[in-house]
Amino acid sequence: MRHLLDITDLSEKEIDALISQAADIKRDPGAYADVCSRKKLATLFFEPSTRTRLSFEAAMLDLGGSVIGFSSADSSSAAKGESVSDTVITVGCYADIIAMRHPKEGAPRIASMRSRVPIINAGDGGHSHPTQTLTDLFTIAEEKGTTQGLTIGLCGDLKFGRTVHSLILALTRRGGVRFVLISPQELRVPPYIIDALERTGTPFTEARSLEEAIGSLDVLYMTRVQRERFFSEDEYLRLKDSYILTPEILSLGRRELSVLHPLPRVNEISRSVDDDSRACYFKQVENGKFVRMALIIKLLAEAGR
Ligand code: NCD
Repeated sequence: MRHLLDITDLSEKEIDALISQAADIKRDPGAYADVCSRKKLATLFFEPSTRTRLSFEAAMLDLGGSVIGFSSADSSSAAKGESVSDTVITVGCYADIIAMRHPKEGAPRIASMRSRVPIINAGDGGHSHPTQTLTDLFTIAEEKGTTQGLTIGLCGDLKFGRTVHSLILALTRRGGVRFVLISPQELRVPPYIIDALERTGTPFTEARSLEEAIGSLDVLYMTRVQRERFFSEDEYLRLKDSYILTPEILSLGRRELSVLHPLPRVNEISRSVDDDSRACYFKQVENGKFVRMALIIKLLAEAGR
């Protein structure tokens, strides 16, 4: 059974094929309107979500399928103490494919070991978020044509930001990029990400100041400080406004800069940046549905469903 637990579960070729199919779906959604008729997607969200859950659900509905699920642990039998394994065995009796978000790192992997249907990791704790990475890569492909030769700045909570980890792993494998990692000392990327950068010989620098770094970037990937992963509220309050992208700071960036953010945003991009042509985060939201449509088609086909 093929699952998507980490972005590296997909080969480079498969990622390219998904992105090109997503582009095709975006061009001609009507051609895909019945591809998943009579198929069901279950969204098992043990953690809050707006975009990821709703884009998965909209993706399945736009493919002619239907959707079941829950949007919080409180409304599932997890609240009674059921294990994720038992939950997915149960849901596999009702649905053809499962998208799962869970606050514990590795929970979707544990779930996949007993599942009769494909599991898609829709975000596990501070670990990884492979479908956001497909969204990000699709958006970068649309904006820049290629990732080759790009200098990509990642800014904010690089420690707990799971979208950052998956994106770096995908791009280090692809090669041809350079990273500028902009974070407070306390929120640097975890050691396994540094290892991946070093092992693949990917050029990277670490920076503390967004103002100083922004001028060298082709892509700026802003992130929210992940309050729910902090042990101490005081520490969160001290770090939460470390970076705020304002029009003044953006004016130091190149004309061709693309600003991405997985959203939700809290304070880290001021609203007045939204109308700048370099702001791509709402395009990312739209693209998220198309890559998920392509992924659902692929995993259902591979599962023979
Ligand atoms: C991200 C996530 O859940 O990791 N959101 C998303 O899925 N688009 C980013 C975040 O919550 O900060």
